[in-house]
Amino acid sequence: MKGGFDSSFLDYLRSKIDIVDYISKYITLTRRGANFWACCPFHNEKTPSFAVNQEHQYYKCFGCGESGNIFNFVMKMENIDFYNAVKLIAKESGVELPNQEESDEMRKKKRDRDIVYQILRATTDFYHNNLLSNPDSEQSKYLLKRGISAEMIEKFQIGASLNYEDLPKHLLKLGFKPNDMLMAGVVGKGDWGLYDFYGKRLIFPIFNGFGDVVAYSGRSIEDNPDHTKYKNSPQSIVFNKSEILFAYNFVRDKKKQNNMLDTIVIVEGHIDVIACHQVGIDNTIGCMGTALTTQHAKKIRQLVSNVILCLDGDSAGNNATYKAIDVLKDSGLNVKVVRLVGAKDPDEFIKKFGKDAFMNELNNAVDCVDFILTDTAKKYDLNQNADKSKYISEALDYIAKFSSPAEREIYLTLVQKMVKIPIYALRKSLDLVTDGNNTKEIEQHSQGEEMTRDNFIIESKIMLLASMLYNKIKNLSEIEELFNGDDELSELYKFLKDRINNDKNYNVSTLFDNFDIEKDSLIDKVINYDFPSEEVYPKFLSETIARIKLYELQKERARIQRELDSAKSEQEIMDNLKKLQEITNRINKEKK
Ligand code: UTP
Ligand code: MN
Repeated sequence: MKGGFDSSFLDYLRSKIDIVDYISKYITLTRRGANFWACCPFHNEKTPSFAVNQEHQYYKCFGCGESGNIFNFVMKMENIDFYNAVKLIAKESGVELPNQEESDEMRKKKRDRDIVYQILRATTDFYHNNLLSNPDSEQSKYLLKRGISAEMIEKFQIGASLNYEDLPKHLLKLGFKPNDMLMAGVVGKGDWGLYDFYGKRLIFPIFNGFGDVVAYSGRSIEDNPDHTKYKNSPQSIVFNKSEILFAYNFVRDKKKQNNMLDTIVIVEGHIDVIACHQVGIDNTIGCMGTALTTQHAKKIRQLVSNVILCLDGDSAGNNATYKAIDVLKDSGLNVKVVRLVGAKDPDEFIKKFGKDAFMNELNNAVDCVDFILTDTAKKYDLNQNADKSKYISEALDYIAKFSSPAEREIYLTLVQKMVKIPIYALRKSLDLVTDGNNTKEIEQHSQGEEMTRDNFIIESKIMLLASMLYNKIKNLSEIEELFNGDDELSELYKFLKDRINNDKNYNVSTLFDNFDIEKDSLIDKVINYDFPSEEVYPKFLSETIARIKLYELQKERARIQRELDSAKSEQEIMDNLKKLQEITNRINKEKK
């Protein structure tokens, strides 16, 4: 059951369409090898890395990582949810929808989400009207003082909570139930009853990518250092803070209108974002003072390939910049950095020096590795030899992480300019660092063998699951016993087994309906498993099975050994000794 549709209906619908034909309605696909290719519709690129696999009816972009089946594709392209994507595809393909029979759980979840969105909509309007109809309120005066324009108040739907009582009263009058208000996170509950969660604050609604309000940040307008500056919504069924970026929806809309947009500016604060948009720098989003996650980076990567990090000027902002660089770079983004001097944040900078000066900073943003190498140098006095050598060692450690010789050379030249010693000496030192790292890695490998063996077994099981998925294993009984745990791998095994036994037409695309590929790296690994060549595959398969069997037996023996060590009675000792003997025999047999 997904989105209220029975899986057999989804399978039927899928059998009626071909993903290559369907996607071709949107973009031009060209056959190359086993796949059909195009420039990815979900991010900006010049060379095609978007592949559609006809045999297994799914797509994957090797640039931004987006992947899915026809339902996911239509959801993303049309900006609609699963239910509506299925409806649309059915209509386009002339397939009649079944009578909807939803499970109670589905119905409740759908109802909860609907109500929460309704409450958030009503709350946003309520706050916004408060602000507009009370120009003398502290909140209005505060916005005036901060120079936020009426246009931005409208665009960002800024609002005001004037007290603690009015919001719950207003929502009750509209017919909403207290429990639903609590679920939406807009009210709290005290001994005396319900109160506005953001009482007496200036309200910034937080939108999801589609522009629906999913949360709020309430800014204190009191000049009281004990008052928390921002009060933020808790997580809810519609709000996951590790996925949401402030003003992302606006940049997404902009991108839709102007496909050339290829850079996003990231700032920290709500007010910074608004200040940037107000002067027309409207490709700006806010991380809302929290650390950027891989999910955030992925969202950004779906729109652009370049980011400029312009976080606060203080040392916290500097630390956050280092952390953000790693996350963003790992997602394949080109990262540049601006460190503001003379103002604590972009808002203050624009107020003090003007839009052009800020644009100038953005245009002169430095490559993030340049930034790290130059910023690190600031810790040292490079006129002192001891300091110089410490800096070189720190810088080379960093450069050693790059595998491309060209990149290394570029950054070595930069270090060379700062430390003014011959480049060949730096190159030689870098070689020593790299060699040292290799030795360390080998040592860690042998020391951590026990630990890495667990991972190795997981990798092996992934290979078996991928083999099942791609119809490469004929006899399941051979591997059944390897998946009798209650872990995620075994769950996937059961799912695939069920499909193999009951649905001959299953393929990769069914997985996308039943698992959340974006959140689940295991499934992603199974789908994208890189098989060895056909000649060696059979041997590879049998060795993998044997290896896992042996591993499971050895784990069992270790467990019995532990029981034996802690056995209290003679009977227990005898029993465990017997078991130990049995399992040792089995291990020896397996090893042959
Ligand atoms: P700032 O303190 O820089 O806030 O925190 P700001 O929005 O720039 O406001 P001004 O210009 O200083 O008045 C940056 C961001 O960190 C988050 C908010 O998202 C804020 O916009 N933050 C900060 C919180 O969530 N809670 C806090 O208590 C403080
Ligand atoms: Mn700030």
